[in-house]
Amino acid sequence: MLKKNFSPMIAGIALLALGAGSPAWATDGAALFKKSCLACHGADANTPIQPIYPRLAGQNEEYLINQLRDIKSGARKGGMSMLMMGIMAPITDEQIVALAKWITAQ
Ligand code: HEC
Repeated sequence: MLKKNFSPMIAGIALLALGAGSPAWATDGAALFKKSCLACHGADANTPIQPIYPRLAGQNEEYLINQLRDIKSGARKGGMSMLMMGIMAPITDEQIVALAKWITAQ
């Protein structure tokens, strides 16, 4: 009995711990980009690994936020945006804003 109820409890505690102390990179646009986006869009957001991938640097912040929200939700699914859907899945709205701010400043 004790064993049966134990693991969900541990999982709950682990989730609470995650939510409480967000790691430093969680809302740092530069760090987030480096971690999740650099591989395709380039370190400066302006040198994509494929010439057909979009250059993001300096793009309008509002536009970026809207595109990222739409790719995440599936509202934008044309072209190659499927490549990004999985990447956007764990990205929160707060992180989208942080990423957009950083990209705009490049
Ligand atoms: C696997 C490669 C890959 C990764 C990783 C990736 N992207 Fe993309 N991204 C693409 C491709 C390809 C497109 C073009 C999609 C299309 O054809 O509509 C795109 C499109 C975009 C767009 C829309 C640009 C526009 O002009 O409309 C934004 C904004 C963007 N990516 C930001 C990001 C951010 C932020 C991350 C990290 C969280 C990221 N991408 C990670 C490949 C990637």
